[in-house]
Amino acid sequence: MENRLAIDGGTPVRTAGYPSWPQWNKAEEQALLETLHSGNWWAPPGSQVKAFEQEFATYHEARYGVACTNGSAAIEVALRAAGVDWGDEVITTPFTFIATAASCLLVGAIPRFADVLPNTWNLDPVRVEELITPRTKAILPVHIAGEPADMDALRDLAKKHDLVLIEDAAQSHGAMWNNHKIGALGDMGTFSFQASKNVSSGEGGIILTNSEEWAQRCWSVVNVGRSPEGAFYQHVNLASNYRLAEWMGAVLRVQLTRLDEQTEKRVANAAYLAEAMSEVPGLQPLPGDPRTTRNAYHLFRVWYQPEAFGGRKREDFTRAMEAEGIPMRAGYPEPLSRQEVIVQRSAYIRERLGLPAQDVDPCPVCEDVCERGMWLYQTLLLTGQQDLDDIVTAAAKIQRAWGG
Ligand SMILES: Cc1ncc(COP(=O)(O)O)c(C=O)c1O
Repeated sequence: MENRLAIDGGTPVRTAGYPSWPQWNKAEEQALLETLHSGNWWAPPGSQVKAFEQEFATYHEARYGVACTNGSAAIEVALRAAGVDWGDEVITTPFTFIATAASCLLVGAIPRFADVLPNTWNLDPVRVEELITPRTKAILPVHIAGEPADMDALRDLAKKHDLVLIEDAAQSHGAMWNNHKIGALGDMGTFSFQASKNVSSGEGGIILTNSEEWAQRCWSVVNVGRSPEGAFYQHVNLASNYRLAEWMGAVLRVQLTRLDEQTEKRVANAAYLAEAMSEVPGLQPLPGDPRTTRNAYHLFRVWYQPEAFGGRKREDFTRAMEAEGIPMRAGYPEPLSRQEVIVQRSAYIRERLGLPAQDVDPCPVCEDVCERGMWLYQTLLLTGQQDLDDIVTAAAKIQRAWGG
């Protein structure tokens, strides 16, 4: 094989693409047409959405599901249902999509950021406990990339300090912690069905819970403040409309039937890839937590060590991988604790409430992840052995060229 890197004008390791996402077939087509022809495009509680809520909840060992417009709204709904309000503090992770922290700020709460663990990039429970104050109302872990956060420790903390525990499971459909599905391990769990997610209807979200009371409160927040038993124009809470459309419910019901098979394939391919990639000096697939009994692999995460690549930065590596035909990406670029809109809005809320200014929460492990963390999208794990070998071949080629 040619040694010259594709980025330097050599032949790329791979020219074929990887599977596109989302995936669908005749079943989605039929479900959409059936909804169209039923004339039932909006019938709260809609029959497709209602059926999906139950199916998704049952799949995740939860008693109740309340669907909503998207994963960002789902977090907001759960926070509102939990009564999280102006000036309350919510402890969350700095290594996540902005929606996790933005949802807190949108209900007037202040996100506090506990650092993450190097082996999972998920919340470190020890750091969480250090941040608990009389203002703390909730803990909001994210199961990042499909790997559950330490729900044993977080559940203990929530219980000990009487806090609401909400899982942001936007990236972890079907993941398992200690042989139990995530989503209802805390008080509520929120999911996203946005186009890139492992179960998708383009947009969409759901809140899962085992508590009838939380479910009813979520339902009310999603349904302009109505109560399940109340009259149509009776609004017992002040809330907006976050309902999911029937079209999405119909598509999601079909998508859910593929989740197990696709997840099993991702898990098997991730194991193969992790072993092969570990042979490349300077690349370390994340070991994860042994209590993660099923990683949903929304993303396949890797640590990058610049020293093994002649000191070149992660961005140089991902560019070189891209040129070789492998879409490997840097993770989130900076901890949310430092993101300007988050910092400013947090300061604004504190100021409006007459609270003293607060320093940015230090998160050194997250800083490192933002500098050296990388990932591959889940679609690359829905392929065959040769496709996975290409990833390792490209990485090894670059390492040989730069690392000597
Ligand atoms: C961790 C996390 N939380 C929340 C969201 C928000 O979901 P949505 O895009 O459906 O609003 C996403 C997805 O984009 C996410 O990855």
